[in-house]
Amino acid sequence: MAYTLLRASSSMEGGAGDQKNGGNPVVVILAVITTLAVCALFLALLYYLYVRRKAKQNAQSFTGEPLSLPSSKPHAVELSDALVFSCKQLLVATDNFNEANVIGRGGFGSVYRGVLADGRVVAVKQLDQGSKQGDLEFQCEVKMLSKLHSPYLLRLIGSCSEQDQRLLVYDYMANGSLQEHLYSKGTSGSPPFLDWETRMRVALDSAKALEYLHEHVNPPVIHRDFKSSNILLDESFNAKVSDFGLAKLGSDKVHGLVSTRVLGTHGYVAPEYAMTGHLTTKSDVYSYGVVLLELLTGRVPVDMNRPPGEGVLVSWALPRLTDRKKLVPMLDPVLEGQYAMKDLVQVAAIAAMCVQPEADYRPLMADVVQSLIPLVKSSKNQGVKIVATTDLQHQVVTIHSSSIDSSSSGAGTN
Ligand SMILES: Nc1ncnc2c1ncn2[C@@H]1O[C@H](COP(=O)(O)OP(=O)(O)O)[C@@H](O)[C@H]1O
Ligand SMILES: [Mg+2]
Repeated sequence: MAYTLLRASSSMEGGAGDQKNGGNPVVVILAVITTLAVCALFLALLYYLYVRRKAKQNAQSFTGEPLSLPSSKPHAVELSDALVFSCKQLLVATDNFNEANVIGRGGFGSVYRGVLADGRVVAVKQLDQGSKQGDLEFQCEVKMLSKLHSPYLLRLIGSCSEQDQRLLVYDYMANGSLQEHLYSKGTSGSPPFLDWETRMRVALDSAKALEYLHEHVNPPVIHRDFKSSNILLDESFNAKVSDFGLAKLGSDKVHGLVSTRVLGTHGYVAPEYAMTGHLTTKSDVYSYGVVLLELLTGRVPVDMNRPPGEGVLVSWALPRLTDRKKLVPMLDPVLEGQYAMKDLVQVAAIAAMCVQPEADYRPLMADVVQSLIPLVKSSKNQGVKIVATTDLQHQVVTIHSSSIDSSSSGAGTN
């Protein structure tokens, strides 16, 4: 065959003057077939290159388009995952959205504790009226988000969208948000402070949540509003990240005015997103760094009541994170005596990388997870020490393998 083709091509090269082969129909047919085959191969190559380019573009464009389901990919799940509730069902569950059942209020609306007909305790989030999304679009987006399953993400059970009502139903998290624990007043009845080990576990769990959203879902999901009040704690203080992708569903009205605001929360938003609106997974990495700083220092991201230069947590902390002498004094006093110095240095280095102003210098969440794993293991092996501070009346929560022991400490109390 190769010989025939060779002959055919050489006969073609022979041109019009080649009388002997010019009239042979077999050679002509072979020549035509060869030409067609070459063309087909060329077109196939062009198509392959086009498909590859398209796939690459899809992987890079994270900005705002709805999560589409890759039908043949391993993470594709059926749309029927999410439950659709009627407003009536949720009215009954929350006792007519009784004020007594409010467990929190946030940027998107109020959250109620509710009990479903089957006895399950849930959290019902009522989005502020004026959601920018229509019924169908809302349902579709919610169903997409309800497909994201990870032990580190708060489960979205279902939703309700009737007239102006937009309601989301989640698993109820018995220990509330990380924020409540970090900024607890420390008095009896208020949430207990978390010890070093628990904080490291929370850091690792929430890093795994972002790693899942960024690297195990196709196309990646950007959280957009990662912060300590969106890290919720279950009855065993396992952390689950909530409100992923919710910024897309929220109202575009701020205090009744239509806004082109950057979605996210003051103090957590990456500088490039705040300035240009350019959103990537690295914007979440920045917000994650801010939460790490909260865990280390016990300070809120923005507090203008602090002395000059200390109001913005990132600006205050960044130069101290890489200076051993300045590192210890910046820590939350409740953590005194609970950590190994090398672990502290490691976490501080991770936080410093995450809050780099230049997005490209920030690590991937997979790298953060890998760096935190040994710290959580090693602190488990050491056992947990609770250290009383003389000037703080507080509770520290300690987790001993499976049981939870919430003990009071502080020289003034016992
Ligand atoms: N699933 C849940 N289980 C228990 N408490 C929740 C749940 N979701 C939200 N909350 C509480 O409601 C508060 C407000 O939540 P949210 O509306 O998400 O606002 P934000 O995240 O802006 O604080 C949270 O800080 C938390 O204390
Ligand atoms: Mg929230």
